[in-house]
Amino acid sequence: MRVLVIGAGTMGSGIAQCFAGIGPTYLYDVNNEVTIKAKVAIEKILERQVSRERMTVADKDLILNNLNLLEDLRELPGQVDLVIEAVAERAEIKKKLFQELKELNLGQPIWASNTSSLSITELAAHSPDPTAFIGMHFFNPAPVMKLVELIKGERTSDETLAQCQKIVEALGKTSVQVEEAPGFVVNRLLIPMINEAVAVLAEGVATPEDIDTAMKLGANHPMGPLALADFIGLDIVLDILNVLHDETLDPKYRPHLLLKKMVRAGKLGRKSNEGFYQYS
Ligand code: 3HC
Repeated sequence: MRVLVIGAGTMGSGIAQCFAGIGPTYLYDVNNEVTIKAKVAIEKILERQVSRERMTVADKDLILNNLNLLEDLRELPGQVDLVIEAVAERAEIKKKLFQELKELNLGQPIWASNTSSLSITELAAHSPDPTAFIGMHFFNPAPVMKLVELIKGERTSDETLAQCQKIVEALGKTSVQVEEAPGFVVNRLLIPMINEAVAVLAEGVATPEDIDTAMKLGANHPMGPLALADFIGLDIVLDILNVLHDETLDPKYRPHLLLKKMVRAGKLGRKSNEGFYQYS
């Protein structure tokens, strides 16, 4: 199976790493420096896995040999079976990308979006083929997390869904089928929990460390909600809350003012070295 991944940020590069384990994968980003950085980061992760004896050198080489970087989409040699976009979470950017893709001869691939909450039906309507369009939502870090949410849009065919279920299985992951709804399943549950943790912090109920320890040890979460918010990116958390709020008009999804203030101040979590915690 030949896969084109568009967007080489954290999610795009993690997704490309997953697919390179099972076949030729092409990674493209409008900013070529981002693509090059992604490959360097993947190499580092794989080398660490090898040094920890979690991966063989042969498996590492297979992934790296399968992973091809594209400077220009027109460099793509031949057609692909799956196109998955992981570009910025802005409907307009994604729609413009689909317009550009319509002009390339990519064959008849499945068109997938890794959107974390945007409407699949709306994105599909701007895609080259709405029946072959689906939400394929991976979780960070994609090579580690076992789940992929498969979201059917209004026009997604059953065949597209069935093919994607097989693809997820080939990746060694588990899929769940989700009807279109803002935030799907995981973000609908996870992101309001993070928002509530921000409220708990803002009310002075507990320190960030104690809030996180409470959820790690009291609910067996691998990370506390505030550390997780820093890991996801506070801007992304805010974007998802805004989608949940705007789509439902339900005040329970209203982003906490402290979260908004932190995003406005550029405190975005790990990526800006500052969020609920400091990073070096
Ligand atoms: N890429 C690849 N592998 C990675 C990685 C990365 N970015 N980060 C960690 N790993 C690997 C490590 O190599 C290690 O593998 P090994 O056990 O085979 O050596 C394994 O993951 C565990 O890593 P660590 O030992 O360094 O650290 P932890 O045991 O603390 O695990 C964690 C790190 C996997 C991130 C864990 O803390 C965790 O599961 N946290 C919760 C993550 C989560 O909830 N993600 C979902 C976010 S929501 C989302 O993505 C949706 C979006 O739409 C917002």
